[in-house]
Amino acid sequence: MNTITTQIPEEFQVQPLACDEYLINGKIKKWKGATSEVYSVIPTEGQPTLLGTIPDMETDTALEALEAAEKAFNRGQGLWPTMKVGERLKCMEIFVEKMKTHREEVVKLLMWEICKNKSDSYKEFDRTVDYIYDTIDAYKNLDRKGAKFDMQGGVYAHIRRGPLGVVLCLGPYNYPLNETFCLLIPAIIMGNTAIFKPAKHGVLLIAPLLKAFQESFPPGVVNILFGRGRKIATPIMKTGAIDVLALIGHSSSAVSLQDQHPNKNRLRLVLGLEAKNPGIILPDADLDHTIKECISGTLSYNGQRCTALKVLYVHESIVDEFNRRFSKAVDELQYGMPWEDTFLTPLPEPSKPAYLQELIKDAKANGAKVLNKKGGQLSENYSYPAVMYPVTEKMKLYHEEQFGPVIPIISYKEIDEPLDAMAASEYGQQVSLFGRDVTKLGPLVDTLANLVCRVNLNSACQRGPDVYPFTGRKNSAVSTLSVYDALRSFSIRTFLASKDTPYNKEILERLLRSEQSNFVSTDYLL
Ligand code: G3H
Repeated sequence: MNTITTQIPEEFQVQPLACDEYLINGKIKKWKGATSEVYSVIPTEGQPTLLGTIPDMETDTALEALEAAEKAFNRGQGLWPTMKVGERLKCMEIFVEKMKTHREEVVKLLMWEICKNKSDSYKEFDRTVDYIYDTIDAYKNLDRKGAKFDMQGGVYAHIRRGPLGVVLCLGPYNYPLNETFCLLIPAIIMGNTAIFKPAKHGVLLIAPLLKAFQESFPPGVVNILFGRGRKIATPIMKTGAIDVLALIGHSSSAVSLQDQHPNKNRLRLVLGLEAKNPGIILPDADLDHTIKECISGTLSYNGQRCTALKVLYVHESIVDEFNRRFSKAVDELQYGMPWEDTFLTPLPEPSKPAYLQELIKDAKANGAKVLNKKGGQLSENYSYPAVMYPVTEKMKLYHEEQFGPVIPIISYKEIDEPLDAMAASEYGQQVSLFGRDVTKLGPLVDTLANLVCRVNLNSACQRGPDVYPFTGRKNSAVSTLSVYDALRSFSIRTFLASKDTPYNKEILERLLRSEQSNFVSTDYLL
């Protein structure tokens, strides 16, 4: 495959950005130490494009950030965790307004750093802004529900959700803004304080937002670091001072970080991990519709989504026709630069094309064929989507989360074949089920709902809309994220209880009227 190097329109050209600032304890500090260069795999003049530099921080800076976050939480006595909910929400509203002014810069960097196409890059930004507004509304709702006293068994209770403490927040490269903020925003809005390190790719795009964080929140609430996980995240975990590990990424990173923490029961986990979501295509599925959904499910953003369809089980009675039509549809997809807004774009990880080639080679050696003409065609930053059939357990592609444009297809005779494979799998996030006979679909949905956490009927797997629960079984997730659930994942129910005696009642009434407590309040947030 030829490398496509088009003239870059002026509005999408970039100048290297020296990101030499970081945020600790409310101060934007200048980094004077070692730096790492950030490249895009998109070439200019035949070479990867230098996008800028980021600090390569050492452990002492990481521990300084931890100290700032601990100080801001101050064992629950800090300004932020004790602040009135309405005041915290005001800070968040200020932040989102400031963030919105950086839309164009962030979107341009999304295109260059992680090669996401233009419309999806805008979508990522706008979806994140919507998520913040929805979170503000959801918290008002939650707070309203707590604005009362219950009375049971002779005990008054004023029950609310309180923060957990200090959160270490680590996001993934495929949604460096959206998924990271879907952790960070609910974490801080609930009164926790946070240390946040951007992913390896999609890091420069955080730089324009440092000032917005600094100007919107009290010192130490959000601390932003740059560099390697082993020099930053590992030493922070080792201190045992982290209360929540919020990570979207691979389970191996999550496990190794947990292992560093000396007090396992103190550590709450909010994790979105890898998956191998299957598509199951029943004999009566509408193939036009199914192929359209399978293209989007397997190849949106080149399959680099935890929710991507990563294996297709097709009934043997229709597999030949499905394969023919699906392969043709794959070969019709357009590849280009992100700003050209093509469906297929370069792969941001320099080592990815070689890894995908290795999967193809291994599958071929074990009896699979590349079905589509362009499958596996290679350039420096791309390996064209390859439709592989028949895939078996002998192949790496069967087991590994390819996280890229290679699509394994397996034909089945009995429905128990895909069900057994799902039950044996280490993963359990979602499934797509294609068919229309309700006598078959009904019992299948009942089984699938117990193997994964979302059954998509005649629809590709996806995370959104963000109000719906996003989680998984086994090695695919810990805790649930959604606008509603994330507020709960980053908080704990805590309450004031008091025996119903005239003495206590009189004090409670005075306490409420005095407005001395931000926790004890029946104020109703509108
Ligand atoms: O990488 C996993 C993302 O959560 C997927 O989100 O389904 O909206 O692309 P999405």
